[in-house]
Amino acid sequence: MQIIDGKATAEAIKAEIAEEVRQIVSNGGRAPHLAAILVGHDGGSETYVKNKVLACERCGFESTLVRFEEDVTEEELLQCVDKFNKDESVDGFIVQLPLPKHIDEQKVIEAIDYRKDVDGFNPINVGRMSIGLPCFISATPLGIITLLKRYGINTSGKKCVVLGRSNIVGKPMAQLMMQKQFGDATVTVCHSHTKDIKKECLEADIIIAAIGKPNFLTGDMVKEGAVIVDVGTTRVPDATRKSGFRLNGDVKYDEVAPKSSFITPVPGGVGPMTICSLMKNTLQAYKTKSKA
Ligand code: GUN
Repeated sequence: MQIIDGKATAEAIKAEIAEEVRQIVSNGGRAPHLAAILVGHDGGSETYVKNKVLACERCGFESTLVRFEEDVTEEELLQCVDKFNKDESVDGFIVQLPLPKHIDEQKVIEAIDYRKDVDGFNPINVGRMSIGLPCFISATPLGIITLLKRYGINTSGKKCVVLGRSNIVGKPMAQLMMQKQFGDATVTVCHSHTKDIKKECLEADIIIAAIGKPNFLTGDMVKEGAVIVDVGTTRVPDATRKSGFRLNGDVKYDEVAPKSSFITPVPGGVGPMTICSLMKNTLQAYKTKSKA
């Protein structure tokens, strides 16, 4: 069994990006610029955005953070999106989700110019991704594909089970694992109404668990030698931690790890890769713009 070290891989990729940016800047170019919009003070969102800004510093990017209070109107938010769409100095930007209930999240996502949508959430990017056109691929699925590639894991012709059908992870993950230039695998998507999840999982060479239920995937559901990718990051209370919680994956690690050939831990597996994928997308946005 080999542990897939997402933290080390993400650090290596950020170092590669930083070196590329250093060369661009030393040749007289400007640095790539990522902007983020954060609404309210949700603990998780604050942490994510803080880490995105830190990753920008690590990669030599410029970053801009615009904050709104919880009571921001949809119109104010759309105006800010429009401003970034038009701002030539911004290569890509994100609106941190979730948004307060009174704001139509989909409307905001669709207002982002798809050429600056480095989260890859705009339906134009989702559609382009699903037919294999150049696009921004959302951070978590892109991070997982990168990990599989960097660890030399052969996915072509393999049976892959994706647990979960969310727009952010499950659906794009299944699309990428199916496509010839990425996974080239035979993909089954399981969800809350799948008849026999255990049977599907036992047949899988690769399982990508993105169901959001701590310890869902147990040892008896996994065949010997399977590749296990755990996307779960449920916060569970833990009085021994300073933060008062710990992150719990969807995989019952102690049972599943001994049976697997490769496995991603939580934390330190998929998580660190998501932000580095966002940096990759921002660099891609910058380069595409420079060529235009
Ligand atoms: N909320 C949780 N994950 C994400 C993400 O990848 N991007 C944005 N914008 N919001 C999120």
